[in-house]
Amino acid sequence: MRLDEETELHGKRQSEQSSQSEPAPEGLASRRFQGRVAVVTGASRGIGLAIARRLIAEGARVCVTARKAGPLEEAVEQLGGPEVAVGVAGRADDAEHRSEAVRRTMETFGRLDVLVNNTGINPVYGPTSSVDAGAAAKVFDVNVIAALSWTDEVSKLGLGSREGAAIVNVASIAGLRPSPGIGVYGASKAALIHVTSQLALELAPRIRVNAVAPAVVKTQFAEALYEGREDRVIEGYPLGRLGHPDDVAAAVAFLASDDASWITGQTLTLDGGVGLAGGLG
Ligand SMILES: NC(=O)c1ccc[n+]([C@@H]2O[C@H](COP(=O)([O-])OP(=O)(O)OC[C@H]3O[C@@H](n4cnc5c(N)ncnc54)[C@H](OP(=O)(O)O)[C@@H]3O)[C@@H](O)[C@H]2O)c1
Repeated sequence: MRLDEETELHGKRQSEQSSQSEPAPEGLASRRFQGRVAVVTGASRGIGLAIARRLIAEGARVCVTARKAGPLEEAVEQLGGPEVAVGVAGRADDAEHRSEAVRRTMETFGRLDVLVNNTGINPVYGPTSSVDAGAAAKVFDVNVIAALSWTDEVSKLGLGSREGAAIVNVASIAGLRPSPGIGVYGASKAALIHVTSQLALELAPRIRVNAVAPAVVKTQFAEALYEGREDRVIEGYPLGRLGHPDDVAAAVAFLASDDASWITGQTLTLDGGVGLAGGLG
């Protein structure tokens, strides 16, 4: 029996149990992911953790990943414990880790409906023309190739076998136009945006594939861009503030939900208006 067949029954039971309608938590209009299961990569903190929290608040059960096991365990506890979350530690660009994460998701929750490719790294700063080739390759491995490989892994193991399957890639506003010092990161996110539309064509109608492109969101990843000068930075943002991880989570939840069932191949810019104002985000 194939893994997806073996876990189908378990999943059916779990989704029957969890599809009894429950009221949405305060402040949320609906439970769009009731009975559904998601994998969110890079989710022990920051944007990924906020996405996992949002999906769970709307009824999902979620597999979260990150490299460090300790913070990932803490994230699982914060998310509500093993009833709703499982953590699988490893590198997003490691094939064995990907296959273990998807296998554990299926074993634990019995189905898979949503993949959020959220992991992204930006270890290179400086002129793009003189970038270290090895460092640039690593950025592309994690930010682009790993997202493709996660997509392949989840499609092989069942994503798209039911209605409502969706992938959301977390790109960046840096993938839409040049930004000083982070050209390689921007190029990788531009590639991820292209891959999003390419995959949308290839995987339709079984799986919708969309992306979000945030400007500066207040997380550890972006601290260097605003710490000690946030007041000055937000002057470039017509909406008067930097992004919060929950802003990204809300947009990802929309794109992953059936509310977006006629949307595929799109990249939604989340930038507090900084692009309109000509800022670099
Ligand atoms: N914050 C922003 O301003 C901003 C703007 C636009 C786009 N983004 C994108 O948003 C995504 C999330 O960023 P964030 O700001 O939330 O970052 P963050 O706060 O630094 O969180 C990154 C998460 O990913 C995990 N991670 C990092 N490298 C990994 C790897 N190679 N394999 C597996 N997990 C890994 C981290 O845990 P471990 O360290 O334990 O691995 C952590 O859980 C990224 O794709 C980033 O490019 C961020």
